Amino acid sequence: MEPTVWTGVYRDGRDLFTVNAEPGVRVYGEATRSVGGREFREWDPFRSKLAALLLKAPPADVLGTPRRILYLGGAHGTTVSHLADAFPTTPIFVVEKSPTAFAPLLALARRRENLLPLLADAQLPERYRADVGEVDLLYQDVAQRNQAGIFVENARVLLADGGRGILMLKVRSVTQRRSAAAVVAEARAELGRGGFPVRSETPLLPFSREHVALTVGR
Ligand SMILES: C[S@@+](CC[C@H](N)C(=O)[O-])C[C@H]1O[C@@H](n2cnc3c(N)ncnc32)[C@H](O)[C@@H]1O
Repeated sequence: MEPTVWTGVYRDGRDLFTVNAEPGVRVYGEATRSVGGREFREWDPFRSKLAALLLKAPPADVLGTPRRILYLGGAHGTTVSHLADAFPTTPIFVVEKSPTAFAPLLALARRRENLLPLLADAQLPERYRADVGEVDLLYQDVAQRNQAGIFVENARVLLADGGRGILMLKVRSVTQRRSAAAVVAEARAELGRGGFPVRSETPLLPFSREHVALTVGR
């Protein structure tokens, strides 16, 4: 098990791992492995777009060492749990609007004290601005038509100067009619107009056919 350039993320061959903050507990049926007295959870790139992005060689400092994280679209907490492993002392605010998805997320957060879940709509960041405060990493994975607009609005309201952002753009959520390239170009333009020029663009194939990761900052 080797450390990677990303804080808290380890590698064995092609497989990524994080150190389990709750030894003996699995979050989504992932494999675990004990090495040197620590339990590692395998981070499945087919289940987590962030693992897919890391395997596709993004900028080395794509995550940095954030002091506060805002995560939009937490769902049941698959990716959130690995981020919480990787940054165990960093507050991670997780916005999720579906009450059905929020229940397991809340259960996860009760066991991991750096997770702070918010049942809220990511389209309305002013409503959670006071709870969250300024963050230096914004991560978004919400399957919505106006994904780029949601990202810009959250970044404008909550991302610190010099902060980083990762937008998992689901191309098919925007439209079925235009080409993926056109949809990505439009999102890039919207981020640029919003003051967040895109730094890197990474298709997540073969792990996801529908997503392109856009990063901003630094
Ligand atoms: C693809 S899932 C996220 C998967 C998760 N990021 C992971 O990797 O484990 C998208 C989630 O975004 C949530 N979502 C969609 N629109 C939202 C919005 N406007 N505000 C907050 N959450 C939203 C959905 O309820 C769903 O749980």
